[in-house]
Amino acid sequence: MVRLMMSSSSGQNQVVRLLVLGGTSFVGRWVVTAAAERGWSVTTFNRGLRGWAHPLAERVTGDRQLPADLAQLGDLRLDAVVETWSGAPRAVRDSATLLAEHAGRYIYISSRSVYVFPAPSRLDETYPTVAASADADTEEYARDKRGGEIAVQAAFGDRAVLARAGLILGPYEDVGRLPWWLLRMERGGEVLAPGPADLPLQYIDARDLAGWLLDAVEGGVSGPVNLVSRRGHTTMRGLLEAAAAVTGSDVELVWVDPAAIAAAGIQPWSELPGWIPPGAANAALHSTNVERAYATGLNCRPISYTVADTWAWLVATGRVLPTPADGPSVGLDPAKEQAALAAWRVARAN
Ligand SMILES: NC(=O)c1ccc[n+]([C@@H]2O[C@H](COP(=O)([O-])OP(=O)(O)OC[C@H]3O[C@@H](n4cnc5c(N)ncnc54)[C@H](OP(=O)(O)O)[C@@H]3O)[C@@H](O)[C@H]2O)c1
Repeated sequence: MVRLMMSSSSGQNQVVRLLVLGGTSFVGRWVVTAAAERGWSVTTFNRGLRGWAHPLAERVTGDRQLPADLAQLGDLRLDAVVETWSGAPRAVRDSATLLAEHAGRYIYISSRSVYVFPAPSRLDETYPTVAASADADTEEYARDKRGGEIAVQAAFGDRAVLARAGLILGPYEDVGRLPWWLLRMERGGEVLAPGPADLPLQYIDARDLAGWLLDAVEGGVSGPVNLVSRRGHTTMRGLLEAAAAVTGSDVELVWVDPAAIAAAGIQPWSELPGWIPPGAANAALHSTNVERAYATGLNCRPISYTVADTWAWLVATGRVLPTPADGPSVGLDPAKEQAALAAWRVARAN
């Protein structure tokens, strides 16, 4: 039986030994940074393609899908593993199986997408999940993430933590959702703001997620936990007004009804990042029960901090909209936005 090594028999704290599978893009990068700030001993395992590595982290380089590369991890002795994988579940199966006797806890960054859709409002962690297999090749995001969860629980049992994150925002965001809104605000003028303005938005700042994940290593959390801010933490208005304010541009937010957005052929979520019209999908994504997360220490900073820090990062890195490696870019074409606003003005005048 592997035991956590965070306190010695004399009661003195020992350095926590953490392995981050990944650790150089967005969430993993913040996990590595936060762990190093806590004085932990951090090892990362990735292919070294992202051009960033924490100066205090030990680096193991390799492709986790190649057995010989993965085998490099077999000699490590660890208190915890943080896993960021979102592809084929069998990759999680292989690493969790390899590390089961070498690590105390295995914390998998999963997703609220694992719940059967449509999910009801206020769903908690007991709600049914999609069918999946730990042995599968990559299939589809929800099944891949659920397959990863099954793999981790099979290898680690009650030493597994399934961190079911929702929309993740913050500096280094690699999907481009908040970056797109910020760059749109900077362009100024009339901005199509998807209504209703008081629509609650649940999300998590990657730094708050990282903090919770590390606390979970020390605090002994087990099993699935929904990880987003409480409903009401912010709204579409809160997000967009913060984004408009921080860029300092001359912006008019024009709040448009969901029906008019649909009539304009605009896709929720992808073309208007983060926004889902009121209804079943919105309930599933922006009305989750997060009591377990808060009871186990989740602390969500105000949206204004997330927006300001993301803007500072974007400015410092040349205002480039991130494009995800495994999916289409997000955001709305300017001509399509202006056409929708024109149609909205006509509809309101009649
Ligand atoms: N964005 C959201 O709103 C959202 C919401 C819910 C859940 N999530 C989950 O949050 C997690 C976010 O993780 P992240 O991407 O930010 O983590 P990350 O650890 O910062 O970045 C991904 C890492 O994986 C490494 N990697 C990729 N392919 C590899 C391979 N074949 N072998 C070894 N390493 C490899 C990359 O480095 P190299 O390329 O150099 O190998 C990189 O270090 C994902 O699991 C996602 O499903 C995201």
